Amino acid sequence: MAAKGIVDDMPASQKYPYPTSDQPNNLTDEDLQFLSLYTGQKDLHLLREHVIKIWRSVKHTLWVYRCIQELMFLQPRIPRHPSYPEVKAALLADKTKPFLDLGCCFGQDTRQLILDGVPESSITATDITPDYWEFGKKLFMDPDRLSVRTAWGSFTDSQYIHSGPLSPMTGRFAYVWAGAVLHVLTAADVKAFITNVHTVLAPGGTFLGTCVGQDPPGEWADAPGGTGKRYLHREETLTALLKEAGYTDISMERDRSSGAIERQEDLSTFGNQKIILIFAATK
Ligand SMILES: C[S@@+](CC[C@H](N)C(=O)[O-])C[C@H]1O[C@@H](n2cnc3c(N)ncnc32)[C@H](O)[C@@H]1O
Repeated sequence: MAAKGIVDDMPASQKYPYPTSDQPNNLTDEDLQFLSLYTGQKDLHLLREHVIKIWRSVKHTLWVYRCIQELMFLQPRIPRHPSYPEVKAALLADKTKPFLDLGCCFGQDTRQLILDGVPESSITATDITPDYWEFGKKLFMDPDRLSVRTAWGSFTDSQYIHSGPLSPMTGRFAYVWAGAVLHVLTAADVKAFITNVHTVLAPGGTFLGTCVGQDPPGEWADAPGGTGKRYLHREETLTALLKEAGYTDISMERDRSSGAIERQEDLSTFGNQKIILIFAATK
């Protein structure tokens, strides 16, 4: 049963508009490995119950992105980015280099960095809402352990960048990572987001990420909160947008690994051929 007073009290524009199952599709032992490693809990039966309980609470409370429906928050995304070995080495070599996990959601990538030895003092996690992060603290069982900096606000809003809680860090980040974020935004918001990332990066800093794309590019499903239609780019259009925002050394590739797009999005629902883009760009 939906938690009365949470979903029921949400404005219609903030409710997830598509039907979702009350049982996750599958939750394999392999899916639980990162959580087990991070928490030290070896009993996978207990972990499975724990995950399903939290997943159900999230579904009854918040917008359930496809990756949340598919429990993708159990798997850090950043280790699969081709630049990650280089980024990790740089963060370990210079412990003062600031890293931003942008659109951090539950915070699985932040925790991957921590497991990899990156000091928490180097990491900032941000998202438009703290709600997924709060569930993340329950999921990863570390509410009193984490000391990463956090800040909440929309990265499409230049006021957040210039005068919000993150503003002391503006122009200082060596790395900004946005895993699976651009494709939840409208065309105008993708542009604003990319421009604001450029602003918060230090000179020579790197913006890296992944997103769902579409070939041909175009509008897609509703953006969360009823703010318009999400826009999906393809390689050329996203590269052009990054160039226009002032980035150089842009690398852009399609994830051709088997099952990559099927895991991320429901291809049957919204038309054109979907792709996964993996990118990095320098300020
Ligand atoms: C599809 S989820 C991906 C989350 C996570 N990075 C991952 O790899 O699983 C998109 C995330 O972007 C966040 N987000 C959406 N719009 C945003 C905005 N304007 N500014 C910052 N974060 C935003 C959402 O709240 C959500 O946590």
